[in-house]
Amino acid sequence: MPPPVPSLRGQQAPASPIRRLAPHADFARQRGVHVHHLNIGQPDIPTPRAVLDAYRTFQEPVLAYGVSEGSLGYRKALADYYNGLGAAAGGAPIAPSQILVTVGGSEALQFGIAATCDPDDEVLVPEPFYPNYKGFAHLLGVNVRPIPTHASEGFQLSLDRVREAIGPRTRAVLLSTPGNPTGAMLSAQELADLGKLCVERGLYFMCDEVYRDFVYDGGAKVAPSVLAQPGLDDVAFMVDSVSKRYSACGARVGCMVTRNPQIYAACLKFAQARLSPPVVDQLAAWAALATPETELRSAIDEYRRRRDVLVQGLQRIPGVTVRSPAGAFYLMAGLPVANAEEFCIFMLREFDLGGETVMLAPGDGFYETPGAGSNQIRAAYVLETAKLERSVAIIQAGLNAFAQRKAQS
Ligand SMILES: Cc1ncc(COP(=O)(O)O)c(C=O)c1O
Repeated sequence: MPPPVPSLRGQQAPASPIRRLAPHADFARQRGVHVHHLNIGQPDIPTPRAVLDAYRTFQEPVLAYGVSEGSLGYRKALADYYNGLGAAAGGAPIAPSQILVTVGGSEALQFGIAATCDPDDEVLVPEPFYPNYKGFAHLLGVNVRPIPTHASEGFQLSLDRVREAIGPRTRAVLLSTPGNPTGAMLSAQELADLGKLCVERGLYFMCDEVYRDFVYDGGAKVAPSVLAQPGLDDVAFMVDSVSKRYSACGARVGCMVTRNPQIYAACLKFAQARLSPPVVDQLAAWAALATPETELRSAIDEYRRRRDVLVQGLQRIPGVTVRSPAGAFYLMAGLPVANAEEFCIFMLREFDLGGETVMLAPGDGFYETPGAGSNQIRAAYVLETAKLERSVAIIQAGLNAFAQRKAQS
């Protein structure tokens, strides 16, 4: 017998555009070039002390399984947190029994898609979108149908385009707000309107709010939440995570919240099959809820400065088009190149400015529509402002060198 081969599902799984240039970055390092990573949303802000202390002070003699849906104490604390943010405006206050603790927001997304869609069903996702949405859907045999949004419109979602895209296999709408990769944010009214459309058309509305706190303009402390919109009890499914809010990506704790008992029951069965979310990390995530508001605020102020440095720097480069994003810590920029992936690889394999280069994520990997985003890159502003200023200078010099190279070939 010939050796077994991986499943088609495995072979055809989409590669992460955020990580797929990693071998080229290794090559840059091998040739002695320092790489500034603007390709990945790994925050560098220190994790709150209370979170780290929770790991250090764990004293139990046995590290046992926890409860599948997450510890009751943590879920009670989370319910207080969501209700404190105004979730009760959307209906009855959130109860601990409507919260399920997951392994990062990632597992909540997988549970959400699995609980709402069957194989060959379709989930509508505004594009450009967080590429793992496609990865999770693919794993479950679910198709992603993109709803185009455009840089020229600030990547705002058009309700008409959503309405037009609904087909016989459509089961859900999935989006992130504030969004990765565009930083676009839906207003409370837009969430309510989209929710109403979902109710009318019998669709679930999965709202990924992991960047809730990262809002920069207009004085709001957090982005509007789907949980606070009335009339959406049957359809709303909220995804959350401690990764970005508390700069604790390695904690691997997130959660899902839904007022729909059937969807909750389905997710609970998935959760029971994977036994429990991480126990010590939950303690750390619980401790994180007590992070002083001032600490969170100073992190957001720092991200605002970073956004402004990167956006204004990129806007000064001839031919680069970019708008200031409302939230999260990413932006999509149009470059004066035909193929942004080629440029990104050039930056890693052939270019340096004084021994430094920049790693960016090619934009096309954030789109489902073939050919879309081919001149765009996504950048994360998760580095100190001085490093971002330097990165802008490197990108500008790299674009010049790339243009010269093209002119010669
Ligand atoms: C939009 C969005 N949702 C979910 C996640 C998943 O985060 P985690 O699994 O670390 O909670 C990320 C991570 O970058 C993200 O950008």
